[in-house]
Parts: sequence; C-alpha cells; structure tokens
Amino acid sequence: MLRPSFSGLVKNSPILPVLHMENVDDAVNVSKALYQGGITCAEIVLRSPAALDCIAAVSEQVPQMTVGVGTLTTPQQVKDSVAAGAKFLVSPSFTKTLANSMLDTGLPLLPGVVSPSEITQALELGINEVKFFPAEQYGGVNTIKALSSVFSQVKFCPTGGVNPNNLSSYFALNSIFAVGGSWMATKELVASKNWQEISQLSQQAISYINELDRSA
Ligand code: 3PG
Repeated sequence: MLRPSFSGLVKNSPILPVLHMENVDDAVNVSKALYQGGITCAEIVLRSPAALDCIAAVSEQVPQMTVGVGTLTTPQQVKDSVAAGAKFLVSPSFTKTLANSMLDTGLPLLPGVVSPSEITQALELGINEVKFFPAEQYGGVNTIKALSSVFSQVKFCPTGGVNPNNLSSYFALNSIFAVGGSWMATKELVASKNWQEISQLSQQAISYINELDRSA
C-alpha cells in the first residue's frame, strides 16, 4: 500500500505545532485549542515522561486532531509511539536504521536533515519530504534555497526558529510545504492554561498563510 505523504497530511493547515506536553489534561486542552484555531495536526515531542500518554489521550479524546510524535531517535520509540496512537512520525535527525523503522509503519513520516549528504540518504530510501531542523540555526531560507537548487525533488518543513516574523520568507519558497514551530503553544502559554490565546495565535497564523497562498 502506498504510504500517505506528509505534505498531504498538512495540506489544509500547513503548520505543525511542536508541543512539549507535561500532562494529559494540558495535551487535550491544547489540541482542542489548536483545532479551534484551524490547525489540524499536532506533533507531541518525546521529551517528557508523559509524552506517550499525551499522544494516547489526544488520539482518543480529540479525534478531530491528527496527533503525531516528534523527537524520535530510536526504532523502539517508533514502535511505542505507534502503539500509543501516533498518526505520523517526526524525527530531528536522519539515520538509515531510524528511517527504515519509520517506513516500516506505513505512516506519514518526516525525518530531519540539514545537509546534502543526509538528503541523499533520504532519497536513497525513497523519502523526498524532510524536516529541515534546526532551521534558523542552519541558515534558514538561504540554506533551503541552496539545497533546493541541487535537490529540486525534495520538499522541506523547516522547524526551529520559525515564527510569525519570518513565516512569509519561508512560504515564499516553492520547496517548502509546511513549517513547524512552538510559537502558537509555547511552554508559557500552556503553563498559564491560556487556551484562548493558543487558538487566536493558531487562527492568525493560518489566516496569514492562506493570504500568502492567495497572493502567490
Ligand atoms: C523543537 O524541536 O523544539 C522545535 O524546533 C521548535 O522550535 P521553536 O521553539 O524554535 O519553534
């Protein structure tokens, strides 16, 4: 069976919120708030003991939100995340072992790259949609432009330092199908349980991108 593409998954809301969740209740509330703001996919990162429980809770309690896992670095984490209910897989890095374990699931996947060699390894496995991480620290838009001139078949989801101030410069590139980031659900907003602000920031970002698309 053909694996669904990652770009297809985020086609209607091309922003991937990166969520650091410490407990299930916050994960459920943040997911509802993001969805209310028009964001339909959310990446919960494996950087807290509660992350897998949060994925399971959102998967069950907020079925309208497509929840996936981020910060994958081992095949075992891939298995555990799929068992918890993750609907897509994101990694900050690229190795053949990790990428193959992600491919084995049949789920949409987004491994992380920053270099021509990593992109070449991804292409060798038939992967042409990648996360560019950490984006701003590795040269942002200019680096993606340079990579795209060589790898025209590759599409990127830059993450790391992407925010409302630089969104338009990323979306100006044809090689970018989505961006990832935490600005609409920062640790501070989650800690203060400011679900309304999370919805508003999400809605603003989606509207802004839709306007960019229309003017393109
Ligand atoms: C991360 O993995 O934490 C993401 O890259 C988020 O980066 P940001 O906080 O700069 O958006």
